[in-house]
Formats: sequence, C-alpha cells, structure tokens
Amino acid sequence: MTRRALIVGVSGQDGAYLARLLVDKGYEVHGATRRTSGSPEARLEALGIVDAVRLHYLDLLEITNIRRVLERVAPDEVYNLAAQSFVSASFEQPLVTSDVNAMGALRLLESLREAGARARFYQASTSEMFGNIPIRPQTEETPFHPRSPYGFAKVFAHSATVNYREAYGMHASSGILFNHESPLRGAEFVTRKITTGLARLARGSEEPVALGNLDARRDWGFAGDYVEGMWRMLQQDAPGDYVLATGISTSVRSFVEHAARSFGWSVEWRGSGRDEQGVDARTGRRLVTIDPTFWRPAEVDHLLGNPAKAKAVLGWTPLVDVRGLAEMMAEADLRRLANAAVAA
Ligand code: NAP
Ligand code: GDD
Repeated sequence: MTRRALIVGVSGQDGAYLARLLVDKGYEVHGATRRTSGSPEARLEALGIVDAVRLHYLDLLEITNIRRVLERVAPDEVYNLAAQSFVSASFEQPLVTSDVNAMGALRLLESLREAGARARFYQASTSEMFGNIPIRPQTEETPFHPRSPYGFAKVFAHSATVNYREAYGMHASSGILFNHESPLRGAEFVTRKITTGLARLARGSEEPVALGNLDARRDWGFAGDYVEGMWRMLQQDAPGDYVLATGISTSVRSFVEHAARSFGWSVEWRGSGRDEQGVDARTGRRLVTIDPTFWRPAEVDHLLGNPAKAKAVLGWTPLVDVRGLAEMMAEADLRRLANAAVAA
C-alpha cells in the first residue's frame, strides 16, 4: 500500500530534499507550508518535484489549521521541519521563535494525540541545544546548554517529543542534527553567504564578503545525506533520538578557504579582530572583511557530533565531506549567477 507522508515546513531546505527522497521512494507526499507573499515552491521546483507534492496551507501558530490538515491528509508519517530556523534572528524575535519552534511542535504533537493518530512523528531537533557545553564530541546523552532563544525553544520541543513517546506510547523520534547545508541553503546562513559572496566576486563584484566570528566551529554536512537519516528513524520498530553529524568540525575561516579554492583563490589572513581581512594571496584582492554586527549576543563556539548510534542502528553514513560540500555550493552559486546573466 502507498504510504502517505506529511512534511511540515516543505518549502525549506530540508523539506525540499526530504520531499524528493520520499517521492523517489514511492510515497504519496503532502507538503505543508504557511501562507506568505512569496513562492513556497521555489526549492521543490529546483529539485524538479513540484508536481509530485500536494501542498496544504498550515501555520504552526494555528491549532485548528493543524487539526484540519491532519484530518484531511491522514498521514502515516509526519515530519516536523518547520521553524524560525535562523539563530541570529531568534535574539531579535524570541517570542515568535518560541511560539513556532516550541509551542508549534507541541501543537502538532497534541493534535496527533487528540486525534488518536497512529502516524509516526519526526521532530527536527538540533545541535544548537548543546550550545556551549564543554563536552566533545556530543552524543544523544550529552546535556543541553542552549545559548539562544532558538536553542531553548528547540530544547522544549525535543523534551515534548520524548515525553509524548514515554507518556502516550507515540512513535515519536527526534533527530539531533548538526549543521547541514546545500545549494538550497537560505542565503543568510554562513556557508551560503560565503559561497554566494565569493561567486559574486568571481563574476566581477568588488564587494568582499562581510562576516562575523571566523573562529566558530561547526560540524557541517550535506542536507541530502541528512534527510535519509530522518526517514530511517521513522522506519525503526521503536522510536528514539539520534545524532546525525559527520564527526568532523571546521571553522568558518576554513570553510572560506575551502570555498575560495573552488574559484582558484588561496586565502591569506591579514590583521586581527575587526580589522582582519581575507585576501587572495596571489593578487592581494580583498575577499573577506569583518562586520561586528554579525557577532551574536551569546555564541556557540564549537559543535562536533558523534553519529555512532545512527551508524550502528540506522546504518546511516554521511557521504559528502566539508570540502565536497563547499565545492558543490560554490559551483552551484557560480552557475546560478551565470544563468541569471544569460537570462537578463
Ligand atoms: P528552513 O530552510 O529555514 O525551513 C524552515 C521551514 O519552516 C520553512 O518551510 C518555513 O516556511 C517553515 N516555517 C517557519 N515558520 C512556520 C510556521 N509558523 N508555520 C509553518 N511553517 C513554518 O530550515 P531547514 O534548514 O530546512 O531546517 C529544517 C528544520 O531542521 C528546522 O526546524 C531547523 O530548525 C532544523 N534544523 C536545521 C539544521 C540545519 O543545519 N539546516 C540543523 C538542525 C536542525 P517559509 O518558507 O514560509 O519560511
Ligand atoms: N549567519 C552568519 N552570518 N553566521 C556567521 C557569520 C555571518 O556573517 N559570520 C560568522 N558566523 C558564524 C555564526 O556566529 C555561527 O557561529 C556560525 O557562523 C554558523 O552560523 P549559521 O550558519 O547562521 O548557523 P548556526 O550554526 O547558527 O545555525 C544553523 O545550524 C543549527 C544546527 O547547529 C541553523 O541551521 C539552525 O537552524 C540549526 O539548528
């Protein structure tokens, strides 16, 4: 029998990759998206699956809306990928972030419980929950110390998922995912900001990429690999919590260097603090400058995940490393700019 999945947050990066995976697996894929003035379909179009996904309006702020969509779709699997997902913005919008990321997940869980639904549930938890905990690598057992409204709202949603599993026997799993990126990554996240900024420079722009903390370290993987892990969690007989990560952390500075190599530049760092600059070693051309407005009120310095449980239980392994990821994103941004120039 054809399985039916509901992806909440289908217009986002992960929503698009997960939709493609499930379409390829023969699922009937329903995607939920809130109404905005923009196109929720852009990423589905980019992956060539817009006609294969049935779209529904669903806002996690509105429980009656959630109930109706669940009733209409009657899914076998529900993936909650919806969130205000930009950590930086959560300092400016802590209440909205908590309403969507914390209460929104609870509204979804509660609606499933009330309906007596047997659907399996996936919650998009995050390595941001670990914050600045001085334990590395981080596993499913590592305590949380969130450093942002985004992080503490996600701890709430994670705890709710665990509790609904324990209290009501729901098949509710939580994926504690470390940073994962792709050519479809939002433009405000640091990896994409770097690859688009460098691509513009390669096409003749003279505007260096203005960045914040170059020394933050993240465990970066490819979103296409991570959605496979989400799906595998819901195929287990028992629900659980799983870390998905590569097990390698890289600084923002090194990510710049990896991406710059795709454009034929070798980055040399000059100066320090807010006067630091990244220049092309051969020509001295400025590629990166520092803008303190991108420093955060509380930073997460170093995230590094241990995906051993996911490897052992789910048989999950990430296939793309950080160099391959930087190259993939840089090439995609260059192609996009070249195509836009031809079309103009
Ligand atoms: P994303 O590109 O920002 O997508 C977020 C999605 O949530 C978008 O579809 C967005 O819709 C939707 N959304 C926001 N507010 C909503 C609301 N009130 N009601 C319904 N939908 C709403 O994020 P992503 O990178 O794909 O990440 C997917 C999930 O994984 C998020 O929950 C994120 O917090 C979590 N996560 C991501 C990473 C990562 O590195 N990417 C790591 C760990 C966890 P619009 O298009 O209308 O904005
Ligand atoms: N966005 C951004 N812009 N970040 C910068 C910049 C800049 O100009 N300069 C330095 N950084 C640093 C940030 O301070 C942070 O330490 C790091 O780069 C990564 O920032 P983001 O790419 O914005 O991602 P994030 O780690 O804060 O959050 C992402 O990963 C989480 C998982 O750990 C998001 O996808 C979250 O939704 C996700 O949960």
